[in-house]
Amino acid sequence: MCGIIGYVGAGDVVDIVHQGLINLEYRGYDSAGIAVRADGELLVEKTAGSIDAFEPPVADGATSAIGHTRWSTHGPPTERNAHPHLDCDDSIAVVHNGIIENYTELKAELEDHGFVSETDTEVVPHLIEDAFEDDPDQSLVEVVSSVTDRLEGSYAICVLRRDEDEIVATRDGSPLVLGHDEDGSFVASDVPAFLEHTREVSYLADGQVAALSADGIDVYEAGELVDLEVETVDWEPEAAQKAGYDHFMRKEIHEQPTALRQALTGRLDDEAGEVDLEVSFPDGYLDSLEEVQFVAAGTSYYAALFGARLVESLADLRASVFLASEYDGGAGRDPWRTLTVAVTQSGETKDTMDAIGVAADLGAGTLAVTNVVGSSVTRAVDQTVYIRAGPEIGVAASKSFASQVMTLAMVAIFLGRARGTLSRSAARRRIDELGSVPGAIQQVLDVEEEVRETAAEYLDAEAFFFIGREVGYPVSLEGALKLKEIAYVHAEGFAAGELKHGPLALVTEESPVLSVLTAGTAPERTRHNVAEAQARGAPAIGFVTEGLDIDQLDVAFTVPDVGWMEPLVANVYLQLFAYHVANELDRPIDKPRNLAKSVTVG
Ligand code: F6R
Repeated sequence: MCGIIGYVGAGDVVDIVHQGLINLEYRGYDSAGIAVRADGELLVEKTAGSIDAFEPPVADGATSAIGHTRWSTHGPPTERNAHPHLDCDDSIAVVHNGIIENYTELKAELEDHGFVSETDTEVVPHLIEDAFEDDPDQSLVEVVSSVTDRLEGSYAICVLRRDEDEIVATRDGSPLVLGHDEDGSFVASDVPAFLEHTREVSYLADGQVAALSADGIDVYEAGELVDLEVETVDWEPEAAQKAGYDHFMRKEIHEQPTALRQALTGRLDDEAGEVDLEVSFPDGYLDSLEEVQFVAAGTSYYAALFGARLVESLADLRASVFLASEYDGGAGRDPWRTLTVAVTQSGETKDTMDAIGVAADLGAGTLAVTNVVGSSVTRAVDQTVYIRAGPEIGVAASKSFASQVMTLAMVAIFLGRARGTLSRSAARRRIDELGSVPGAIQQVLDVEEEVRETAAEYLDAEAFFFIGREVGYPVSLEGALKLKEIAYVHAEGFAAGELKHGPLALVTEESPVLSVLTAGTAPERTRHNVAEAQARGAPAIGFVTEGLDIDQLDVAFTVPDVGWMEPLVANVYLQLFAYHVANELDRPIDKPRNLAKSVTVG
């Protein structure tokens, strides 16, 4: 989704902001632009399409700049609709993420102003222009505060004026992070935008207004200066770069053993059979729980489906999983005895934010399982558990799925122990098995070439069907989604038993069936469903726990015998399969068409 970067300072302003836009490409965009202040002038350049060929403004002596990658909502991705947008005098430049819902009414009020785009954003520089005309002595912070009071919807906004170096930024419902550096100040929609310059960050809260200068950042709330908490993010700058891989996605698939070790570090006590997630609930709360409701979207929804089964079996709780966009409060349940868990890599997904808001309003306890420190969801919930996957740049989720599932497995053990439904010895065994998963995933990564060969062999198929049972089912759904989104081929995931209830009609010799046949997911039953597809001529590719006696497959990949998390290991084969099909087909793997990394519209 749209990306913002702003910088004021002694560094190479244009280069820093241009690079920031490149760093933000992973969020998904269709046009881009930069406004630079140099020698008392505002210079603006925009492009429709990729920033590969984008020429930023040429400006010696530039002192501050703002840039934007746009993912169209109002008006097509043309140069005119690209941000920054300007007032009538070309003296105020604005970039904006989000949607201004009342822009039509505001535009009607601004009838004497000249508008050049179809965007909702363009009302903002004109409102600022009017405010300065009314009272030229106001500060930009005051004007931005009064103008944003009039906006309905969600926004993160940065403003640059011809008359001063200062950048003013504010938000309501869309993320903004501030970066502190000796040479200057940054604002961006996400940390990777400026990670090569600083790891010292502050997160702007809804309604706060930040004034950035080369000397530092002041933040105001209701007109008063507030203290700014500075955090150090522990992401290495290299983590946001490709490090020799062709694509971020392949790099991120290969980072999974490290990511999972990070997720586990310091949280497991295998002697005591306990998990410490640094969350605290009121006395008796966890015992009184009757239900856990998960809300999530896309890949995170599949991770939640996986996690829900674990919670149900280890913590003896009813566990329901809702697509966040369909969540209506989980009709019929008692909010006081319900814990609602938002699973979201970005922590910014609007559907998930809305759903967790509904749950909180009803009085349910809320927990976020997320990757991004300080993201919006962490401010909306009672407790947060970080998945610690590190920055995920590829638009398609890969390592974050693994880290989400691993974290949810720890949540399940935690709940089981806290509620007394999981014995110490059973918890010890589960914890021990969690520790084997990173090594097992490494073994899968080591045979990537075999997966590539299989992908090359089958890539001309008409369709691909993925099947699995129990926690192999969400993995099948995730395998199909990966193939769809990065390779643009038809793929569907099914609960293995459902194949014969309809989808089997689609199966031909041109539709390989990929099956999760790991121990503990009823592989002896799933293999019969594979046989049903094979009887219709479908090639069978399977992911089988080592030692299981399944010999009917055309291509079999071995999943190391590491216990209850084996489907998560099998999923790495599915990621590699999707990656190599997409790569053979020469797809833009890190930035699939029409998709955005962080979906901040509903
Ligand atoms: C698929 C994918 C999306 C996201 C979904 C939710 O590869 O990345 O389906 O999983 O948009 O995003 P988060 O997890 O950020 O809430």
